[in-house]
Amino acid sequence: MNEALQEIHDFLPCRTPQQWIDNALANQDLMLIDHAHCEKKAASTALSLMYRYVDNTDLLNKMSRLAREELRHFEQVLAIMKKRGVTYDHLTPARYAAGLRQEVRAEDPGRLVDVLVVGAIIEARSCERFATLAPHLDDKLADFYNSLLKSEARHYQDYLKLAEQANGGPVDDRVKAFLDIEHGLITEPDIEFRFHSGPVQ
Ligand SMILES: [Fe+2]
Ligand SMILES: [Fe+2]
Repeated sequence: MNEALQEIHDFLPCRTPQQWIDNALANQDLMLIDHAHCEKKAASTALSLMYRYVDNTDLLNKMSRLAREELRHFEQVLAIMKKRGVTYDHLTPARYAAGLRQEVRAEDPGRLVDVLVVGAIIEARSCERFATLAPHLDDKLADFYNSLLKSEARHYQDYLKLAEQANGGPVDDRVKAFLDIEHGLITEPDIEFRFHSGPVQ
């Protein structure tokens, strides 16, 4: 696992700022609600890809498994919320995914390559945040977040491999373009705390 986490740290442009960790610890109920939304959204994104790219068998298999795992994570977050008396509710989405999506090209195959690169980045950041948060959390939540690391690290690798396949070669230039944006979204002050937000003052 340490190897996979090291790869993710090497991939991402920066680590999560301390201010965001402080925000998360002060807003754990909100963090869980947004986390539940993120898992559900991750499953839904995978399903959309399965509807759109029906001729890509590797993508269909990987996204089908990924969607199942994300829905399982969703159920696990809901169970933890129930135990803690946290009520699930609608939330305005973070600026994060929308900020990354702005750079996605409109036409295929560029669109598919970009959506897959964005998927890899979101999985990598989630993995980094779970690992960063775990040591600060109570045992129950720490165990859960540590248990998510492995699947999110694999999701990151799956997305990146699919992006390279869709591109017929390396995607370094696209990864760099998206990571430049990601760096800003993670480090620049944000107005609302979310699982993928920047630091909130
Ligand atoms: Fe997940
Ligand atoms: Fe994931």
